[in-house]
Amino acid sequence: MEIIRDPRQMQERVTELRRQGARIGFVPTMGYLHEGHLTLFRTARRENPILAVSIFVNPTQFDRQEDLETYPVNLEGDLAKAEAEGVDLVFIPEQKSIYPQGYGTFVEVEGLTRRWEGEYRPGHFRGVATVVAKLFVIVKPHRAYFGQKDYQQARIVGRLTRDLDMDIEVVVLPTVREPDGLALSSRNVNLTPEERRQAPRLYQALCWGADQVKAGEEDTGALVEGMRRMIQEGTSATIDYVALCDPDTLEPLEKVNGPAVALLAVRFSRARLIDNLVIGNH
Ligand code: PAJ
Repeated sequence: MEIIRDPRQMQERVTELRRQGARIGFVPTMGYLHEGHLTLFRTARRENPILAVSIFVNPTQFDRQEDLETYPVNLEGDLAKAEAEGVDLVFIPEQKSIYPQGYGTFVEVEGLTRRWEGEYRPGHFRGVATVVAKLFVIVKPHRAYFGQKDYQQARIVGRLTRDLDMDIEVVVLPTVREPDGLALSSRNVNLTPEERRQAPRLYQALCWGADQVKAGEEDTGALVEGMRRMIQEGTSATIDYVALCDPDTLEPLEKVNGPAVALLAVRFSRARLIDNLVIGNH
């Protein structure tokens, strides 16, 4: 496994590999790797002769300094996991090589970024789109892998690559969960033991919503209300949003009578968690 810190060096290495005809799969991460990340690695490993991953806690996508400061880090553990998964190239840039003094170019994706995470975390998706675009230019992958766990992010990255004519296939893989349903997230370590016990309620609320839809409930108001109530009664978290949306546009639905995605975000004392579930036949 090669570890590369310098963006120029990474570009030279992948350019050489591409010249030799290698196809490159890429998984961008912010580290503190868990089974969700590793599932992306494994699929990318199977589908591409070269597997590149990046570990970079991207400061421009954090809307609150505190969230950036409490974001967990474990580089040694991450490198051991990457090695065990057969990763070929690990790109670990320093902040100042991605955003040097005087850095001034940002990528704004319109429409899809407006609601949900975009509303509750101003500037977040501008930071995500910017760093993903930069990583794509540096790593030059043929395919890039993202988790459905961050549903809105995956949609935005798809739009970004289309709008900017990037010749990169974006692959989105299902959310990996704990046996009790909690979606794996690096932020879960910031839950207190009591909050950790409550957190599966989020997925239970999503599943309840999906079951109701299956049973014929179409009324968005009733569905959202029921899901909110389950979270309010079963956890100490504060709800940012619970919504039923069109899976492509992410606009809220008036009625659930076709493909839909349920999205939610809540705040526990030291961890903000998001989750989602695709409902219906999408
Ligand atoms: P990070 O949160 O480290 O996640 C990296 C990738 O792993 C993302 O595509 C995310 O959706 C996926 N992932 C996280 N938890 C998952 C789970 N439980 N199941 C399946 N996939 C999961 O997302 C980011 O980093 C950053 O925004 C990034 C794209 C790297 C840009 O900085």
